[in-house]
Amino acid sequence: MIPQVLVLNGPNLGRLGIREPEVYGYATFDDLADLCRETGRKLGLHVDVRQTDDEREMISWVHEAADARMPVVINPAAFTHYSYALRDALAMRTAPLVEVHISNPAARESFRHTSVVAGVADGTVAGFGLVSYQLALQAIAELVAEQAKRAEQAEP
Ligand code: DQA
Repeated sequence: MIPQVLVLNGPNLGRLGIREPEVYGYATFDDLADLCRETGRKLGLHVDVRQTDDEREMISWVHEAADARMPVVINPAAFTHYSYALRDALAMRTAPLVEVHISNPAARESFRHTSVVAGVADGTVAGFGLVSYQLALQAIAELVAEQAKRAEQAEP
């Protein structure tokens, strides 16, 4: 069975390509979605890419992933810096979780230096443009393989 992965994107990421291209580049959200699906295919993952500007919808997707034991790559965008509700939802995860950013928030304005979600993720990839997503998916593939190996060893 091919593992399913959700790649979730928060507010304003649907505007990629026209949004501050000097920070986020010229690739569009559709380009990002194609890249994630293609990267997933190469890694043996089925990747479902979503974007929302709505915190309620984002949290409902995180609940869906937890219920289905689905790994998640998430770019929470501005929610990263203040959404305790999203952090609490992510804390209920039942599968690998990687936080991702296109830019390097640590090298930008001070309000971006805090991530309220980082503490519940397996790790964070930031600052490599769209490559951040490819690296995050690679990390998910490794974590899923490790999990499968552990489950196999636990079998009598
Ligand atoms: C971002 C960084 C956040 O600070 C910002 O609010 C975003 C995008 C990134 O991918 O670099 O919307 O998450």
